[in-house]
Amino acid sequence: MRARGPLSVVGGMIPSMTTPAAVIVDATTYAQAVEDAARAAAAYYAGGSSPLDDDAYDRLARGIAAWEAEHPGEVLPDSPTGKVAGGAAEGDVPHTVPMLSLDNVFSPEEFTAWTASLARRVDREVTRFSVGPKLDGLAVAARYREGRLTRLITRGDGTAGEDVSHAMGTVEGLPERLAEPVTVEVRGEILMTTAQFEHANEVRIRHGGQPFANPRNAAAGTLRAKERAYTVPMTFFGYGLLALPGTDAALAARLEESAYGDLMATAAGLGVHTSAGTAVPDVVVETPEQVVARVQEIAALRAELPFGIDGIVVKADLAADQRAAGSGSRAPRWAIAYKLPAVEKITRLLDVEWNVGRTGIVAPRGVLEPVVIEGSTITYATLHNPADITRRGLRLGDHVMVHRAGDVIPRIEAPVAHLRTGEEQPIVFPEACPRCGSEIDTSEERWRCAQGRNCHLVASLAYAAGRDQLDIEGLGTTRVVQLVEAGLVADLADLFTLRREQLLALERMGETSTDNLLAALAAAREQPLSRVLCALGVRGTGRSMSRRIARYFATMDLIRAADAEAMQRVDGIGVEKAPSIVAEIAELAPLIDKLAAAGVNMTEPGATPPPAADADGGDGSASAAPAGGGPLAGMKVVVTGAMTGSLERLSRNEMNELVERAGGRSSSSVSKNTTLVVAGEGAGSKRAKAEQLGVRLATPEEFAALVADLIG
Ligand code: IVH
Repeated sequence: MRARGPLSVVGGMIPSMTTPAAVIVDATTYAQAVEDAARAAAAYYAGGSSPLDDDAYDRLARGIAAWEAEHPGEVLPDSPTGKVAGGAAEGDVPHTVPMLSLDNVFSPEEFTAWTASLARRVDREVTRFSVGPKLDGLAVAARYREGRLTRLITRGDGTAGEDVSHAMGTVEGLPERLAEPVTVEVRGEILMTTAQFEHANEVRIRHGGQPFANPRNAAAGTLRAKERAYTVPMTFFGYGLLALPGTDAALAARLEESAYGDLMATAAGLGVHTSAGTAVPDVVVETPEQVVARVQEIAALRAELPFGIDGIVVKADLAADQRAAGSGSRAPRWAIAYKLPAVEKITRLLDVEWNVGRTGIVAPRGVLEPVVIEGSTITYATLHNPADITRRGLRLGDHVMVHRAGDVIPRIEAPVAHLRTGEEQPIVFPEACPRCGSEIDTSEERWRCAQGRNCHLVASLAYAAGRDQLDIEGLGTTRVVQLVEAGLVADLADLFTLRREQLLALERMGETSTDNLLAALAAAREQPLSRVLCALGVRGTGRSMSRRIARYFATMDLIRAADAEAMQRVDGIGVEKAPSIVAEIAELAPLIDKLAAAGVNMTEPGATPPPAADADGGDGSASAAPAGGGPLAGMKVVVTGAMTGSLERLSRNEMNELVERAGGRSSSSVSKNTTLVVAGEGAGSKRAKAEQLGVRLATPEEFAALVADLIG
């Protein structure tokens, strides 16, 4: 993959829950590996961007450990196995109790082995485990004297850290004053939430800096920066609470004896931010099986969390168990990090492609040296628009940090600037539309071909014919190309005036195909307004928005008569979106007229137009909820996973249509406002989130029973 030193000793390249170790064959490769790991660890803990991503580092460290196990007499002093991780950053404030690291496991098997060794050390089965997120930030110790925050110290080498008290006012979750005047040390992780990271990069770029590659680097760089012209907020999560010299003896004794869960409750009571308020709070469970189940739940929620986690921390909850297990010089034996596969990798940006979408948007896409993230090979990543490329300072050939979590589209975070060789080339922006050669309208951040949706007629027609729009069977991309090339179709409406003899004259069009296509077109004419609207491809609207607009206005004429204010009465359309939708509809007027003339339906069955007062201004209080009831009236419904039984044939779009016909509102993400989650086979994170939030769950069969009257 990359021709740099460290990876030349790396064996398998497929990261999974069980990351393969690097294969080290002799003392020379071992020495090189130790050096590479030490350099990467130094950069990591000092807040610079590490030349190795997390997976590569873990593989290297495991390879080193394996070699050392075979050659115990030849262990080098710099080896990452022998000391507290992060030994490289300087620091001169001694820690009262060493700040340790954690050992890792990567699979349920390794975790089971760890619980067995824990039971041996404790001399009984451990039956209380605390399980919570492993926050991907930097460890700090915050010292409070009589309730006042007096000092903030990094972990450093675990024995002494750096004083970063200058950052005290910028860390949310670490109050300047505790709720009680106690003398304690709070330990935890400082990180940037995704929103804080985006904000920090914006501010940094505005001040002429390079964007940080990821939230962790951003937090590290920000924490250590002393003289900056600006400050950006970060977030603290506490995971430790201990006595300091000067702590009241009774309190010290109580902290000493507290189970981890109680300790965190105490911290939260003092005003410290912990995992408690998040979607993944620390919970106490009793068996290793329950731990693994909780690990899987947290893993499923990971992509949706507003902050980064790189694993799950499992701790023996009881103080007595912790004492009995003890600690090594590097890590406690009573806690373990169950690592999750990395969602970020470093790879190279090989090329930038410019594609024209069906609405004429000219969008850049990064072509990557293939890289495996969470088990799938990533070769493309979104680059939003030319301005964004410029802001990030990307160049061809750059090493870039690529992020992909869950089903989210991979994105390029930033170039890894110190890996530049000088060979990188500027990214060239197109001067003319790469598809049709017309001018490009660059007046907005998202560039658009001056021909708009006509530029990519084939794509827009194929989209319109798709199953979730007009559902014209037999009209795939190949056939559309044929029709366009034969000059029979120049816009969507032309499809509906095609004549039998025109079709028969085309190659590979026999009588049967022709009749089938004509029948499919006749059926398409009768599709509800929502689908016609969606087929038109109004920018800024998709399937569900098209349905909401159609249900609200009921007829195309009323949609066309709506101004921005009226448009805003549709659920989900705000001040920003409304004017652009109105402008798009106006732009589409000639096409809409032509469609209507060709006999295409322009009304939404079952919907009633808004009252006249409402249409011409009114008091703006009308809602877009369909008139009348329906079995799902007033409910917000999310469908996830594969449908079975009588719903098996329905696409996700058809399921959403069904929800809305039944009076409900369909949505794709679960929140505390969700009323019902229909969870089919293989439902993952959305189901977990519903369980977490206590949202009602239904199987496809239960849901089918609810809406039985509407299923034909
Ligand atoms: S407990 C004795 N809990 O991960 C060490 N650590 O890779 C106990 N970390 O050094 C640490 N989230 O900086 C603990 N919920 C959590 C954590 C956590 C992140 C960090 C911590 C630790 C590192 C080890």
